[in-house]
Amino acid sequence: MTETVVRQQYDQLAKVYDQRWNNYIFKTLSFLKDWAEISPQATLLDIGCGTGEFESLVLTEHSAQQMVGVDISEKMLEIAKQKCHAYSHVSFQTASASALPFPDHSFDIIVSASAFHYFDNPKAALGEMQRMLKPNGKVVILDWCKDYLFCRICDILLKVVDPAYQQCYTQSEFHNLLASTQFDVQRTTKVRFSLVWGLMIATAIPQS
Ligand SMILES: C[S@@+](CC[C@H](N)C(=O)[O-])C[C@H]1O[C@@H](n2cnc3c(N)ncnc32)[C@H](O)[C@@H]1O
Repeated sequence: MTETVVRQQYDQLAKVYDQRWNNYIFKTLSFLKDWAEISPQATLLDIGCGTGEFESLVLTEHSAQQMVGVDISEKMLEIAKQKCHAYSHVSFQTASASALPFPDHSFDIIVSASAFHYFDNPKAALGEMQRMLKPNGKVVILDWCKDYLFCRICDILLKVVDPAYQQCYTQSEFHNLLASTQFDVQRTTKVRFSLVWGLMIATAIPQS
């Protein structure tokens, strides 16, 4: 049900998404790219990839990077496909974070930016990430952080007014969620992207 609403919302938003969120997208995805320390040889999966801005950004540095983006909005993916059409090693597929069509141990790095608060089954999504990671692989998740007052207020309001929205987490809640799905947090921080808006990022690896 929630995924249907998310899909409808982003299908409607797709044409204006890049323009409307230009500043936020550039700041957050540049931060993610630098934080993730992506080796040019790594095979990367981006969950909730939207319009493929992250893939475009990575390609400016590593034009041979192998990447797959998944999203539940076909309209967002159409734009992503247009942007990256010249790169045959970059592909996009329609899929839900909680049921992904890839074999076990397929990816070195799995990233997700500004999408986790939409996941209606976050444990299933993290379980899928566990399953698809190669040995020595890592996940890097960037999302809103409820430790910031403004995010906390938005979390309360959006739960009432936006049927697509699920929830955002405090950093500690998020780390507990990662631990409950057998991930160890390797590196983490919180970061403000404006006066009021704050996100958190975590790099996590499967527990040994
Ligand atoms: C705010 S946009 C972020 C897009 C991109 N990661 C970025 O930072 O520009 C959130 C994206 O997550 C996607 N999404 C939400 N829930 C999803 C799910 N359960 N599975 C896959 N994609 C999902 C939406 O369709 C949307 O494109």
